[in-house]
Amino acid sequence: MCQVVQTSEDALTTRLLQATIHTLELYGIYLGKELGLYEALKFERRITPPELARTAGIAPRYAREWLEQQAVAGFLRVESTTAPAEARRYWLPAEHTNVLIAEDHPAHLAPLAQMVAGIGGALQRVVNAYRSGGGVAYPHFGAAFRAGQAGINRPAFLSDLVARWIPALPDLHSALMSTRMRVADVGSGAGWSTLAMAKAFPQAEVVGFDADPASVHDAQRNAAAHGVAVRFEIRDAAAVAEDGPFDLVLVLEALHDMARPDEALRAIREALAPGGSVLVADEKVGDHFHAPADDLERLMYGWSIVHCLPVAMAEQPTAAIGTVIRAATVQALATAAGFPRVEVVPVDGGFFRLCRLRAQ
Ligand SMILES: C[S@@+](CC[C@H](N)C(=O)[O-])C[C@H]1O[C@@H](n2cnc3c(N)ncnc32)[C@H](O)[C@@H]1O
Repeated sequence: MCQVVQTSEDALTTRLLQATIHTLELYGIYLGKELGLYEALKFERRITPPELARTAGIAPRYAREWLEQQAVAGFLRVESTTAPAEARRYWLPAEHTNVLIAEDHPAHLAPLAQMVAGIGGALQRVVNAYRSGGGVAYPHFGAAFRAGQAGINRPAFLSDLVARWIPALPDLHSALMSTRMRVADVGSGAGWSTLAMAKAFPQAEVVGFDADPASVHDAQRNAAAHGVAVRFEIRDAAAVAEDGPFDLVLVLEALHDMARPDEALRAIREALAPGGSVLVADEKVGDHFHAPADDLERLMYGWSIVHCLPVAMAEQPTAAIGTVIRAATVQALATAAGFPRVEVVPVDGGFFRLCRLRAQ
């Protein structure tokens, strides 16, 4: 994730062509996930187009084209390219299963395709927002985006959050292990972080809050499916104190999406029990704007122009932060909300910078 972009004409034409191929391949992955096609190929099952069509309940002609595209892209293997098209057997090689179907594995990046597809469905609204100065509310990005957002953070939340990030704060970790802490997960999305906390720290009372009703329903469904007794509420961050006090408030990849993160952090501070703290995880972008920049900045600006900024602009007034939330911005928001101490948590959070905010 470190190469700096070249800008010669040749390099740019090559990049655009490659980007088009890669984008179309992401759509192929989206179809594979959405239609259960990879699931049908689980366990290295060798399958012909008619068999895939029957197993997944899709039209045979589409099954054939998708399998051929996936093989051409190198995602699937094919036994014999010279066999008649309907008789060719395709399989998902073991080395691709984590990326494409193992939902809890850190390498599971297929949800990115769902995010991109969800953005595609809202793109005309984004165009209109650029003209009007308005925004595009989160629900317009639809179920595909929500599934992608949930899926991309799920592995980190189910393992790193509870096994590495919280233990990097030993006082908090031991309190969670030994006392009945009240924990709020603000902007909980599909609830994987909330569920992970409730499972890892059974003594704690964990509540997830999100302003988006569909996300809360996703979270409630996930909790029921995993048999975790945890509560989710449709609630704006600004109203979190109604359920307080909380010993710990998590704000995981949600601060930059909030139209009024200052108001949210003030409300969170008011909701804190004495000695309580807030754990903010947000994008680990550089300290300053620089260009051209590395892949992480490119990725975050990419999300920002088509999703996060339009989402934040959908409510007025708005701080309109966008995805590229720099460390100084988190610090300034925290200070303005009355948190005198912001400590960067000494742990590798992958794409995230983790900060602990304390009211005292
Ligand atoms: C990028 S998603 C992250 C969801 C989840 N934390 C995760 O990492 O998968 C941001 C979430 O914040 C929620 N959100 C944005 N503004 C909010 C607000 N003011 N109050 C509560 N939730 C908010 C959105 O509905 C969305 O579910």
